[in-house]
Amino acid sequence: MAPNPQAEELNGIITAVNPVILSLLSAKGKAIFFPQKGILGQTADAKGKAINATIGIALEEDGSPMRLASIACEIPAIDPKDAFPYAPSFGKPELRKRWKEMLAEKNPSLKGKCYSLPVVTHALTHALSMCGYLFINEGDELITPDLYWGNYNLCFKNAYGASFSMFPLFAGEGFNTSGLAEALKKGGSKKIVLLNFPNNPAGYTPTVKEYERIIAILLASAESGKHLVVLCDDAYFGLIYRRGIAEESLFAQLCDLHENLLAVKIDGATKEDYVWGLRVGFITYGIKGATPRLFEALEAKTAGAVRGSISNVSHLSQSLVLKAFTHPSYAKQKQEKYAILKKRCDAVISVLEHHPEYGECFTALPFNSGYFMCVALAEGIDSERVRQMLLKDYSTGVIALPGMLRLAFSACRTSDIPDLFENIYQACKSLKA
Ligand SMILES: Cc1ncc(COP(=O)(O)O)c(C=O)c1O
Repeated sequence: MAPNPQAEELNGIITAVNPVILSLLSAKGKAIFFPQKGILGQTADAKGKAINATIGIALEEDGSPMRLASIACEIPAIDPKDAFPYAPSFGKPELRKRWKEMLAEKNPSLKGKCYSLPVVTHALTHALSMCGYLFINEGDELITPDLYWGNYNLCFKNAYGASFSMFPLFAGEGFNTSGLAEALKKGGSKKIVLLNFPNNPAGYTPTVKEYERIIAILLASAESGKHLVVLCDDAYFGLIYRRGIAEESLFAQLCDLHENLLAVKIDGATKEDYVWGLRVGFITYGIKGATPRLFEALEAKTAGAVRGSISNVSHLSQSLVLKAFTHPSYAKQKQEKYAILKKRCDAVISVLEHHPEYGECFTALPFNSGYFMCVALAEGIDSERVRQMLLKDYSTGVIALPGMLRLAFSACRTSDIPDLFENIYQACKSLKA
């Protein structure tokens, strides 16, 4: 199939600024474009005309979006124009602008740096999938720690044919920086790296020193001539509970690290703002030497992929989160929820400290952030059998992973945390006996 001229135009813009980025795009990524000229373009041309028969929605006689009162009455605080019509495939402009500003507020190192406007996605799963679309060809290797969110398999292996090149997440009590360095040395020159901190399932974020080491390793790889796209899955951003842990996203340092390294920030309101079902996420790009036109080209490709998958993200959801971001008590409310989650993490730490006997049956993997932590089970204790027994005899639900259990302390009442661990201990003991 001959490449579409609009895709060629975007590829030309990208190549003129940095051909490395073109080499990082998948075949689909090279071919995609945002159709400026078809129905969308003609609709845009007709905006404000006295008679506009272009838009694929219905309008009331007064020109407002057609709507059923039975639905509209449920959302009185949102103007119908901010809920019922389609949002742009790029996302609501005010939301994109606000999220970009918020990135710099949350990551002070980003202040003054050049990075793209975020493109809105149907939360992070969709953002990850769009990254697969844009960067992964069948058979490409995806470098990731061995403890990762299970849905990466469907997002990257099933959907785009990636093969995972894994390294152990931990070396002793900390992040396995040399594992990352080794993984980068293997294989060809295109490197797709996926790093998720705070990590699901481990609940681990590297220390500030480990972050510096990770950045140095990625820089050395880029300097050695490798072409890297580093996907930063920041789903649980901001939920850091211990001192000395990196508080900023890796993206803040990677976005202008080297011309051979494209940094991609995948984040969203889902976990950060406790709106899992609203499905609002973002993809943001950064690379050293970028220009606004380069970012516009990458945003257009991303919006094209969004247009071809889900068309656009819920307008109502985007309006709701945008309203929250400008609410006077937003920061205070977030702090209150953070305090609850931190208290639960502290409760886990305290329970483990007070019960050395639990070490006969399980030990905690390092954790300091996010929603989860894991316990590695003692030799000979099968995680699935423990899970089954916990359900049957202890009315307790956990996630069984090979050799370990994942515990979402985020979802447990603080007062239930001692019982959660005691139940696991008792179940393990009886299975050991
Ligand atoms: C590490 C990680 N990334 C992404 C996601 C997907 O989040 P969303 O609900 O925004 O699609 C999850 C959800 O559990 C996750 O744990």
